[in-house]
Amino acid sequence: MLEWENKKIENLINMKRTHSCGELSFNNLGKDVVLCGWVHSRRDHGGLIFIDLRDTEGITQIVFNPETEPLLHKHAHNLKNEFVISVSGKVSQRPEGTMNPKIPTGGIEILTKHLEILNPSKPLPFEVNEETLVSEDLRLTYRFLDLRREKMHNIIILRSEVFKIIRDSLHNQKFIEIETPMLTKSTPEGARDYLVPSRLNEGMFYALPQSPQLFKQVLMVAGFDKYYQIVKCFRDEDLRKDRQPEFTQLDIEMSFVLQDDIFSLMENLIAEIFDQVFHKKLAVPFPRITYQNAMQRYGSDKPDLRYGMELFDLSSLALQSGFLVFQKTFKAQGRILSIKADSGAKFSLKELDELINFAIDCGAKGLVWIKVLDDGFQSPVRKHLGNEFLVQTAKLLSAKPGDLILIVADAAQIALNVLGRIRIFLAEKQGITGNNEFNFLWVTDFPLFKYSQDEQRWNSEHHPFTAPKEEDLGLLENNEFGKVRSSSYDLVLNGAELASGSVRIHKPELQDKIFKILSMDEDSVRDKFGFLMKAFSYGAPPHAGIALGLDRLLTLLTGSSTIRDVIAFPKNQKAICPLTSAPSKVTAAQLSELNLTIKER
Ligand code: AMO
Ligand code: AMP
Repeated sequence: MLEWENKKIENLINMKRTHSCGELSFNNLGKDVVLCGWVHSRRDHGGLIFIDLRDTEGITQIVFNPETEPLLHKHAHNLKNEFVISVSGKVSQRPEGTMNPKIPTGGIEILTKHLEILNPSKPLPFEVNEETLVSEDLRLTYRFLDLRREKMHNIIILRSEVFKIIRDSLHNQKFIEIETPMLTKSTPEGARDYLVPSRLNEGMFYALPQSPQLFKQVLMVAGFDKYYQIVKCFRDEDLRKDRQPEFTQLDIEMSFVLQDDIFSLMENLIAEIFDQVFHKKLAVPFPRITYQNAMQRYGSDKPDLRYGMELFDLSSLALQSGFLVFQKTFKAQGRILSIKADSGAKFSLKELDELINFAIDCGAKGLVWIKVLDDGFQSPVRKHLGNEFLVQTAKLLSAKPGDLILIVADAAQIALNVLGRIRIFLAEKQGITGNNEFNFLWVTDFPLFKYSQDEQRWNSEHHPFTAPKEEDLGLLENNEFGKVRSSSYDLVLNGAELASGSVRIHKPELQDKIFKILSMDEDSVRDKFGFLMKAFSYGAPPHAGIALGLDRLLTLLTGSSTIRDVIAFPKNQKAICPLTSAPSKVTAAQLSELNLTIKER
């Protein structure tokens, strides 16, 4: 027994790996090496058995020859996919005609002398060595296998590379990475908090941070004028394909800077990532558009500018049409807005019905369609619209035969929003978004407030610490809150909001005024943000910042269809982690220690 153990240990020592599975080439011919990894695939070719051995760096071909090593060859018959093995042997040139130029190790193979099975694997729930269609929950349950798959493995490696580029670049620019607490007070980013009960302070709760917003502003007061952090944020919100309950931000704050400094910092950082990861030169600076312009021209505050398809306002033409809906909307100070789909006249009635239903789902009362034909116009309401209106509309939109015009009449916000979404729907339907272009865009000058009809009060569009634009301070004084623009900005990539930030308020008096407009009474301000207000009264520098959603950036960079593909252990759409089954029940003892009881519903 002892002798066997000793032999095994000796073997293991001898079998310590000398190289990775991605590094051997002609330079190593004739060398004795030890490789360790997973059996990626096994092929029996008559006499010879070939194993593709895989580790994180690549794949190397291992050969078992029945003539030179009959015992080993027999042993190799037991190898199945995803067994972990260690092999030693000689690096040899592959015979002419069997080289694989597609992989770096494709010119060599290992002629095996020793084999050790370090661990077998159960039969697999899905193949690791090919991209087969597997349900996402099964992939997440067996995430350790899913992450072995080439595509996923590479995404996680790319994520790490991108983080390193960011850290290196920011350190070179004298930024300091500072951690902020995870057990903290609620931050006002607009979502629900994840709460953590405090055992030592019965009945009290910490909140997991929705972002480090307040702390990074306190750090500015503390004199760290270039702060950054790659940080987890937690938001209990309804999940969409680009949202996770916990996600990672590149959070940045700087003192004594202007908006343009934040823009160029981010532009150069993103250009550096593109350069180093894709060897692709991004054009900087990125274009800019105001919120107002983006809404009017594209019906969205995050327009995808890989394609044009601007909205056109037909309100002034409305009176020329005999269509009652348009006239009523015009009189009620609504808007009659339109969009043109190039070559859309080919849509069938079924496709047009689909469009109408989509518009109604988005909140429209209806959707007028007009096909521009060689010999005139086709529309279910052609007679009501009248020829003059049709001709003028086609002229305004430069519509040519074969095109389709769509019109929505409604209150401005609804008409803009519906056509903004139809614009995206059409682009996706017509496949004009499917290219590899990366279209970055700054959207600036968001409104400072938005009015909530439900709550009958003003809310912040971004967060309460965002500064109003200097030019609009007069409007603030005159209580014209709806018109006040803020010094805030979003970075948009291909129609997705990637980053968001603002110049901050740094004067306690202005901050106080904003809290009042937001109907926050003094007690709740003191309770929630007292420490920030206190800090502001001890010499707060002017400051500005931004936070970039790194998971979203990686989703777009890797062309992934969901944010879950770029996170090692994501939650599914029900906010469950299928690997660990979190969230889960806790024991009665744990609850009792916290003095908590679960009420039956
Ligand atoms: P904001 O709330 O806009 O700003 O968040 C910044 C960026 O974080 C990303 N993001 C998310 N990514 C994945 N899942 C989510 N649930 C999620 N929520 C947000 C987005 C977004 O643009 N403190 C401010 C920033 C600042 O003012 O400096 C903030 O957090 O890409
Ligand atoms: P109705 O009078 O409701 O039968 O609608 C006649 C046509 O006008 C239908 O094709 C509707 O989809 C369209 N329509 C109705 N209301 C609107 C509206 N507010 N904006 C655009 N089209 C509308």
